[in-house]
Amino acid sequence: SDGVIRMWPPGCAMFAEYRNHADRVRHLTVRKDDVWILTYPKSGTTWTQEMAWLLINNLDYETARKIPQTERSPYLELGCLVDEDTRRKANIADSVRAVEMLQSPRCIKSHLPLQLLPKQLWTVRPKIIYVARDVKDVAASYYHHYRLFFGYTGSCEDFVEAFLAEIVPYGSVWDHILDFWNIRHESNVMFNTFEEMKKDLPRVVQRTADFLDCTLTSEQMKRLCEHLSFESMKENRSVSHEDEMAKLRGKETNLVGKIEPFMRKGEVGGWKNDVTPQLEERLNVYTEGKLAGVGYELKYQE
Ligand code: A3P
Repeated sequence: SDGVIRMWPPGCAMFAEYRNHADRVRHLTVRKDDVWILTYPKSGTTWTQEMAWLLINNLDYETARKIPQTERSPYLELGCLVDEDTRRKANIADSVRAVEMLQSPRCIKSHLPLQLLPKQLWTVRPKIIYVARDVKDVAASYYHHYRLFFGYTGSCEDFVEAFLAEIVPYGSVWDHILDFWNIRHESNVMFNTFEEMKKDLPRVVQRTADFLDCTLTSEQMKRLCEHLSFESMKENRSVSHEDEMAKLRGKETNLVGKIEPFMRKGEVGGWKNDVTPQLEERLNVYTEGKLAGVGYELKYQE
């Protein structure tokens, strides 16, 4: 469909495989007590998954440390991005099946744009947490992610050009964000931002706990915020993707410059280190074009 083409343009290696699985994703059985973490890549997904998973699992830190987040909170379409042979070799599970097999309450991650998500999301209406981030930080973080996970050796400029042309996987960042912004007032939808999590994590945790019908004492809040701090998550192998990266690091020898870890900087405004003033201007113009007359506030709920 047009949605698939916009998300993974023909020619993109992931396109053909995803198309073969799109129906399974579209027809997934959604459960009312699911919690769906939906984002454009690099917007604070892992951070939000950890918060939500712990909230709906009675703050079970022991299990959270023991079982990798990728198993506790599967990435719906991951297994649809590579062919079966690669999946077997790299030990990547059939992720749709992993979601189907998960015990309730499930905490599910997806980067799919709204129109490609399981249809039942809109009839069963489980809780959905959307997270948006300043698109300049998204672009810079996505560039580093590309180097890390896909062995990208091009320049940051070329990557940002592709991002602006909406031909990176998952397509247009603003179309993605605005589709969820437009449904932010639905009672089963919560719209958070990376920036607010950085500025006032306890406030976002409290709002999320209320949304998920969880009660927290002040000690529980303190411990959860400590667990969710950048420093703590960077050291936590259950969420840091360090094990996958160790494998990748062994393989990638031809990358120019340093490959940064998944838990890279976790900052607001860090894009300034990667994006040139010319590209900054292009990104500004892109954003202005997309937001004209929309009323989107980056610092939503501040
Ligand atoms: P940077 O690359 O800018 O450092 P996602 O999980 O959606 O892929 O997002 C990854 C981004 O979120 C990375 O951004 C990562 O460092 C940041 N991040 C993850 N956990 C975080 C935390 N606890 N505090 C702040 N940033 C965090």
